[in-house]
Amino acid sequence: MKVFIITLFPEVIQTYLNTSIMKKAQEKGVIFFSIIPLRDFGIGKHRQVDDYPYGGGPGMLLRPEPVFEAVDSILKTGENPHKIFLSPQGKRFKQDDAKNLSKKDSLLFFCGHYEGFDERIRISLADEEISIGDYVLTGGELPVLVIIDAVARMVEGVLPKESIESESFYDYLLEYPQYTRPAEYRGMKVPELLLSGNHREIEKWRKQKAVERTIERSAIL
Ligand SMILES: C[S@@+](CC[C@H](N)C(=O)[O-])C[C@H]1O[C@@H](n2cnc3c(N)ncnc32)[C@H](O)[C@@H]1O
Repeated sequence: MKVFIITLFPEVIQTYLNTSIMKKAQEKGVIFFSIIPLRDFGIGKHRQVDDYPYGGGPGMLLRPEPVFEAVDSILKTGENPHKIFLSPQGKRFKQDDAKNLSKKDSLLFFCGHYEGFDERIRISLADEEISIGDYVLTGGELPVLVIIDAVARMVEGVLPKESIESESFYDYLLEYPQYTRPAEYRGMKVPELLLSGNHREIEKWRKQKAVERTIERSAIL
């Protein structure tokens, strides 16, 4: 999978993508990330990317020209990625979206900043707009990392299949409780059954706990 990210703050994105599972996914050749600094397409000597909103109002908006040109620079290479624009006004991101996006060959993310972006950018360029929740962040850099991380985990070859399938939301259930060593800590004991080596019974217990936890927390129901 190829993932293009247009951002004003490449260093923020780069640091995360060079860490842990994202780094390994690149080393395995499963995912290829390309970070495109929006400033490279800025206007004039100062590489301006933003301007005042017509009609007045607070803050600055991202201008259309740098964004259109940044997107054109990708299209010119023959790539035709699915274009996702980060916005608090977008569709709320869920695990199913991560699953669906993980099946695409190529994705392009555009991170907004300041007061957001000129409406013409949204109308002409976005295949979809995604929000990571009903709150407003300063920019699209944290949201894009949240989405990329969730998507990358679902791309074949990034993680072992079993570890994805047992996790919360995969089958619409939350994950069962998990324990590691020591078997007893400050008087709190690991359930006896998990130490028994009886894998059939352990599997049954995990399924039951996953259902109980899901109902208890009403995460899906
Ligand atoms: C300060 S926000 C702009 C908010 C915009 N003025 C509004 O009220 O809808 C700047 C940028 O951060 C990103 N952003 C902020 N909150 C977000 C969220 N919940 N989900 C996705 N992106 C978000 C978007 O890219 C947005 O263009």
